Amino acid sequence: MADLIELVEVSASYGRIEALSGVSLKVSEGKVVALLGANGAGKSTTLNVISGIVPATKGDIRFRGKSIRRLGSDKIVGAGISQVPEGREVFRDMSVHENLLIGAQLRNDRAGIERDIEIMAGHFPVLSKRFKQMAGTMSGGEQQMLLIARALMARPKLLMLDEPSLGLSPLLVQQIFDIIVKLHREEKLTLLIVEQNAAVALAVSDYAYILENGEIAVEGRSADLAHDDSVRNAYLGT
Ligand SMILES: Nc1ncnc2c1ncn2[C@@H]1O[C@H](COP(=O)(O)OP(=O)(O)O)[C@@H](O)[C@H]1O
Ligand SMILES: [Mg+2]
Repeated sequence: MADLIELVEVSASYGRIEALSGVSLKVSEGKVVALLGANGAGKSTTLNVISGIVPATKGDIRFRGKSIRRLGSDKIVGAGISQVPEGREVFRDMSVHENLLIGAQLRNDRAGIERDIEIMAGHFPVLSKRFKQMAGTMSGGEQQMLLIARALMARPKLLMLDEPSLGLSPLLVQQIFDIIVKLHREEKLTLLIVEQNAAVALAVSDYAYILENGEIAVEGRSADLAHDDSVRNAYLGT
């Protein structure tokens, strides 16, 4: 399979603090890749470098073989990369429908946008009966689903999720991951998922990277990592 996104020796800093040092990773088309690691390891920074929100100080980021390192974040969304950032909020005083339209703001195919809103209602049944409801009145899990649906409205080739399970009950986490897996299967969506909930992320992904202090410490097939005792002891807390 061709690589959809590839990071080659990427470094990034906040002032004098180096948050990423020489990170190399790739996500092949049609795969689900998990990016794991403790708090502060550099997971969100990695996604933000791909999205063009944080600049890379070294290395290259390639999407379908072409460097996107110097593109602005709008261009990167336009190229087919969407992110649901960590702790991002919905537009609380706008309806569910209006929130979904915002996800499509770089598109101008009106009919396609309305069709995709119907498709989202199919994937996320809790949203379908609430198009007119103010987004801020929904539960945390429903808002997380709306955020994912909103990111999908840009019709990304690569969807990046930053800690989608944060603050949600185990049942809701399972529901969200079930939908993510369904989207992956039915829409051939390629996914890069950042999680602290390593067990869930390894269960749904093909391949995983574990970040430690801004460097890739371990990588391998998710099924192998999930059963590797040293990985389990060091990183998974089980
Ligand atoms: N906006 C910022 N300004 C300064 N330092 C930051 C900023 N964002 C993150 N960092 C630092 O960069 C490192 C990596 O952070 P982050 O990528 O958010 O980790 P993770 O998502 O794995 O928890 C941490 O040491 C963090 O404190
Ligand atoms: Mg983070």
